[in-house]
Parts: sequence; structure tokens; C-alpha cells
Amino acid sequence: MLALLIGLAQMFPGGRGPVGVGDTPAAMLSAAACADCHPDEHREWAGSRHAQAWTNGIFQREYRQKPGAWCVHCHAPLEAQHAQVGTGGPLLAEGVNCATCHVRDGRIHARTQRPDSPHETVTDDAFGGPDWCGGCHEFTFPVLDGRGELVRYTPHPMQATVAQFRAGPHARDPEGCRGCHAASPGQHAYPGAHDPRMLLRALAFDVCRAGDDVVMTVANVGAGHDVPTGDVHRHLLARAWRPTAPEAMFEAFLGRRYAPQADGGKRTIWDSGLPPGTRRTYRVPLAQLGDDGGPLSFELRYVYTGDEFPRAGRDPGEPTWRVVHEQRSAAADLPPCD
Ligand code: HEC
Ligand code: HEC
Ligand code: HEC
Ligand code: HEC
Ligand code: HEC
Repeated sequence: MLALLIGLAQMFPGGRGPVGVGDTPAAMLSAAACADCHPDEHREWAGSRHAQAWTNGIFQREYRQKPGAWCVHCHAPLEAQHAQVGTGGPLLAEGVNCATCHVRDGRIHARTQRPDSPHETVTDDAFGGPDWCGGCHEFTFPVLDGRGELVRYTPHPMQATVAQFRAGPHARDPEGCRGCHAASPGQHAYPGAHDPRMLLRALAFDVCRAGDDVVMTVANVGAGHDVPTGDVHRHLLARAWRPTAPEAMFEAFLGRRYAPQADGGKRTIWDSGLPPGTRRTYRVPLAQLGDDGGPLSFELRYVYTGDEFPRAGRDPGEPTWRVVHEQRSAAADLPPCD
């Protein structure tokens, strides 16, 4: 067990430093080294957020504002990638690549070895399990120095996807995270919040009428962790408004707020995210929306950034939000709430 824990800790230092691959030939570090024999894995990975962890506009926008080694340790984790920061080499652009997850000391790491495998594979039952994903997906707020280097971690969770999963109804699913994010071992697309189908699977949105009020319900029906989880800026907006009176729009924010701590770092001081299997209702008096009898609009929107509508010069070059559900109906046509 101890050996196993050390093994996990060695695979991903959790932002404390770059991922070291020990004695690995440089030619094995690029995804190109695996593409010919593993074309399907390569294709799926190339379209994933893992492959775009360094290049995506939302990350780059934040990173450029305050470039720091800490960010690099998870978004382009290999030592050899770190060496390309500044020169922008091709390995850096591979973000979280095959070698980051599979290669140490020139050997392939995996949960099981296939009978026809040519590799000298190190197998580990914990490979790909929730704690293994947690090597990058579970961490606390850092205290950083002026150059963006990690001084120390605080005890306050920054991304707690694995802890949320452990506290939820899917904690005992034998496939762990991969049951929802990769149905078979070979799947490498890891769709998440940037995939509209995953957002639809996670969230149910419902509107009904109770007397002179409308009642909106948002429920986490399909995620194994809070929605939103992960990056600190992510949030949902549930809205109701009359197109004729947009100034009277009702808006509910589902996400987190933070405050700096006296001893450094930050702490979450408010969290309205939805744990798995929970729902939240918002009761809005029709009169508040400017009741002129015209149709009403309802919307549930997932926002990836702190700024839904970036100001000039802050456009990340990819969507900052996605509408998950929308509907338009007259108040009289809404079903009664039961
Ligand atoms: C010369 C062909 C070839 C190359 C190059 C290659 N692999 Fe494989 N690999 C295989 C074959 C064949 C298997 C057996 C399973 C299969 O058919 O996919 C395999 C299996 C695996 C497995 C499952 C564990 C195992 O040993 O069965 C992993 C993980 C893996 N390869 C990762 C990689 C990575 C990462 C790279 C690039 C650094 C790579 N492979 C390069 C041919 C190759
Ligand atoms: C310990 C690992 C770790 C470190 C260190 C880290 N991140 Fe991340 N980051 C992640 C993970 C895991 C995700 C995926 C969670 C998600 O998609 O919500 C992520 C997601 C993001 C996203 C969302 C990207 C998107 O596709 O929407 C941004 C932006 C981001 N990180 C910026 C940063 C910046 C800037 C730094 C340095 C100040 C940093 N990260 C440091 C692990 C890390
Ligand atoms: C974010 C981490 C991650 C990255 C990046 C990644 N893999 Fe994997 N890979 C996994 C996990 C987890 C499994 C599943 C292990 C299991 O359940 O047996 C896996 C399984 C595999 C398998 C075995 C598939 C099977 O059907 O048994 C191969 C082959 C493989 N990966 C190759 C690659 C190649 C090639 C790349 C780069 C193009 C890559 N992986 C990138 C995590 C990753
Ligand atoms: C029961 C299915 C399920 C399980 C289990 C599950 N997820 Fe998810 N996950 C989803 C769905 C659906 C979404 C899309 C909605 C969303 O973005 O929250 C998602 C989104 C995400 C995101 C996007 C970031 C964000 O802000 O939402 C990350 C990162 C993630 N999952 C990681 C994990 C990890 C790591 C585990 C295991 C500890 C895990 N997931 C287990 C279903 C699941
Ligand atoms: C080496 C670090 C690392 C490991 C290991 C890792 N991830 Fe990630 N993952 C990241 C980073 C960094 C991102 C954010 C990419 C970006 O900037 O959008 C990410 C993004 C994701 C996303 C997409 C989130 C979105 O909003 O679209 C999902 C889903 C995800 N990871 C699931 C997993 C699961 C499940 C595992 C374990 C099988 C895992 N990851 C292992 C670093 C890692």
C-alpha cells in the first residue's frame, strides 16, 4: 500500500513541480511517438481539453496576465515542456499528453497490460482511478511568490472535484470518473463542460407557475460532482425576463465567491454550486418582471470565465459561455407547480 501511494504521488506532483519522467528517451515524450500504433487514442486525445490544456484561449488569457511556473506544472506538466516556456516549442503545445499520463523511466504505465502489448508495462490497479485523476484535479489554494512560483499550499480547497465525487452518490461506481468521462479504457476525449452534450446530461431545468409567481428549478441530475466543479471562475446563471422589460431581469448565480486570507492564498466564502443529485428552486413574482402579460423568457447558461461578456482586448477567442436550456412561454401557458 505504501509503495502504491508513493507510486501515485510520484506520477503527479500536484502542481508542486513539473512531472518528471526519469530516464525516458526524448523521442518518447511527444504524442507523435504513439500516434502510428494508437491512432484512435491519438485522435480522441487531440480533440480533448487535455490536449488543449496549454493552448486554449481561456487558459492563455489568464496565464499571460500573470505567467507563473505553478500553472505550467499542471497545464503542460512535463519537465521538457517547461523548458519550452518562452520559446513556445511544439511539445509545450501538447498540454497534458500521452507521456504525462503513461510514461515514466521509459516504461508505459497502465492499469492492465494487453496480451499483444509490445511494451514493458508497469501496471497499477489505481491507474485512472479517482485519486489518480486527483493528482491534477484536486488541490488547495496556493500561496505564490512574485514570479508565480508555489511557496506553499493553504488548507483551503481550490478544485475539489474528487472530494465532491467521494461525498456523492457515485462514490462507489467501479469505473469512478471514467464511468461518465470515458466509457471504455481506450476513450481519451474526456468531454466535460465544454461539451454541450455533457452539460445537457448534467443539468435539468424546469419552470412552472405558482399563483402570481414563476418557479424555476435547476437540478444536477447527471454529474458525479458539484456543477460547476473545477476551475474557480465557472458558474451558472438562471434567468427569467420579459423581452419587453429586460431591465427587470431576474438572475441567480450558481458558483463560488472567494476572499483573500490574512496568511496568504484565498478561501471560498460562498458556494451555491449544485452537489450531485440536488436541486435548487427560485421563486420569482411575475410583478417583479414587469407584468404586462407578454411572453416570458427563461434561460440556464454555463459561463466558463469570470466575465460573461469580456471587454475589449480580453476575448479568449473561444466561447465564454454556453446556453444549456432556453424557453419562451406566456405565464398563462406555464404548467402549474405541484
Ligand atoms: C510500435 C507500435 C506501438 C507504439 C509506437 C506504441 N504502442 Fe502502445 N501499444 C501497442 C500495442 C500493439 C499495444 C497492445 C494493445 C493494443 O492493441 O492497443 C499497446 C498497448 C499500450 C497501452 C496499454 C497497456 C499495455 O501495455 O497493454 C498503453 C497505455 C500504451 N500502449 C501507450 C503507448 C504510448 C503512451 C505510446 C507512445 C509513447 C505508445 N503506446 C507507443 C503498440 C505501440
Ligand atoms: C494542480 C493543478 C493545476 C494548477 C497548478 C493550475 N491548474 Fe488550471 N486547471 C487544472 C484542472 C484540473 C483544470 C480543469 C478543471 C475545469 O475544467 O474546470 C483546470 C482548468 C483551468 C482553466 C479553465 C480552462 C477551460 O478550459 O475553461 C483555467 C482558465 C485555468 N485552469 C487557469 C490556470 C492558471 C492561470 C493557473 C496558474 C495560476 C492554473 N490554472 C494552475 C489544474 C491546475
Ligand atoms: C489524462 C491522462 C491520459 C492521457 C493524456 C492519455 N491517456 Fe491513455 N489512458 C488513460 C487512462 C486513465 C486509461 C485507462 C486505463 C485502464 O482503465 O485500463 C488509458 C488507456 C490507454 C490505452 C489502453 C486502451 C485499452 O483499450 O486498453 C492506450 C493504448 C492509451 N491509453 C494510449 C494513449 C495515447 C497514445 C495517448 C496520447 C495520444 C494517451 N493514451 C493519453 C489516461 C490518459
Ligand atoms: C455520474 C457521472 C460523472 C462522474 C462519475 C464524474 N463526472 Fe465529471 N462531469 C460529468 C458531467 C455530466 C459533466 C458536465 C457538467 C459540468 O461541467 O459540471 C462533468 C464535468 C466535469 C468537469 C468539467 C469542469 C466543471 O466545471 O464542471 C471536470 C473537470 C470533471 N467532470 C472531472 C471529473 C472527475 C475528476 C471525476 C471523478 C473524481 C468525475 N468528473 C466524475 C459527469 C460525471
Ligand atoms: C496531468 C494532469 C491531469 C491528469 C492526470 C488528469 N487531468 Fe483532466 N485535466 C487537466 C487539466 C490541466 C485540464 C484543463 C484543460 C483546460 O485548460 O481546459 C483537464 C481537463 C479535464 C476535463 C475537461 C473539463 C472541461 O471543462 O471540459 C475532464 C472531463 C477531465 N480533465 C477529466 C479527467 C479525468 C476523469 C482524469 C482521470 C482519469 C483526468 N482528467 C486526469 C489535467 C489532468
